[in-house]
Amino acid sequence: MDFDELQNTIRTIEAKVPGVLSDAGSIDALRSLESGILGKKGSLGSLIATIGRYPQDQRGKVGQAINAAKGRIKGLIEKRFKEFQAADAAEEVDAAAAFDPTLPGDPIPMGAVHPVTAVQWEVERIFERLGFTVEAGPAMETEYNNFDALNIPDTHPARDMQDTFWLTNGMVLRTHTSPVQHRSMLKFGAPLRVIAPGQCFRYETVDASHDTTFYQIEGLLIDRDISIPNLIAMAKLLLNEVMQREVKVRVRPGYFPFVEPGIEIDMNCEICDGVGCATCKQSGWVEVLPAGMVHPSVLKAGGIDTEQYTGFAFGLGLTRLAMMKYGIRDIRVLNTGDLRALVSPRRLGGVLLC
Ligand code: PHE
Repeated sequence: MDFDELQNTIRTIEAKVPGVLSDAGSIDALRSLESGILGKKGSLGSLIATIGRYPQDQRGKVGQAINAAKGRIKGLIEKRFKEFQAADAAEEVDAAAAFDPTLPGDPIPMGAVHPVTAVQWEVERIFERLGFTVEAGPAMETEYNNFDALNIPDTHPARDMQDTFWLTNGMVLRTHTSPVQHRSMLKFGAPLRVIAPGQCFRYETVDASHDTTFYQIEGLLIDRDISIPNLIAMAKLLLNEVMQREVKVRVRPGYFPFVEPGIEIDMNCEICDGVGCATCKQSGWVEVLPAGMVHPSVLKAGGIDTEQYTGFAFGLGLTRLAMMKYGIRDIRVLNTGDLRALVSPRRLGGVLLC
């Protein structure tokens, strides 16, 4: 083609450019258009290879004509490219404006301990400071450990005090943590300071303050010259520390075959502040600490020299203490798996149950 034809071709190519550019819907589409026009094999780009076919004296202006067109087209593509960039930036600004940093975020589920566990840990810390070790015994016990070793032989009427879940293998679900007294005496001998938190089971009618599953912390101190005042002093210290203030207590005689004498240490009902409510059975007092001096038969069964040693034992009602501490009116809340009891036990006790 001669120079005139070339100029016509260039004009035709250029005339189409604005239309195809405005049809391009994305930066990628723009890039492929660019190479389709200006690339080596593109409609305009491929003309460069034809320069050599022109007479020597024309090659200069042929080259200039092609390059000038190339520059103009490049300018148009660049302009369109900037339009895309501006649109993207505007979209980002819109997204940033739509984000409101004052809105509450998505809630993050948080773990919390069960009220009984919380009080258990607290009691463990208090006793560890007093030189006690923390022991554990099995929930499935032998009849011997749960009863006989604790001075409750087969014929003893006290077996009826604790309605028992008997298992088909002849063992029992322990009715109290007291079997750990016997286990610890055999394991450590005297002198001895242990506590044993754990789950206990009784086959009894469920009400606001009784459930078939509950927690106790057994305590046992064996040493020389131990007597009831040591026990009472320790009980008061324990309750005051857990409740974080001076707790009103009363001491009554109590009967348990494995202690002599036996006592009941009651605390002021924190739900009604001693006035009387369903939780304390209108008495204003809650039985939290049955206790006493370890019966000599129990010491002997544990291999302890009763000439040298005496000891006290208690069976802290951990579930009841947790109810008092967190204002939970009904023991059943603690075994339902209701997660609200974990987050705010006081609210659950106050709102759902009064
Ligand atoms: N084991 C008794 C009960 O569960 C409580 C207790 C423990 C009493 C230790 C005295 C001494 O009822």
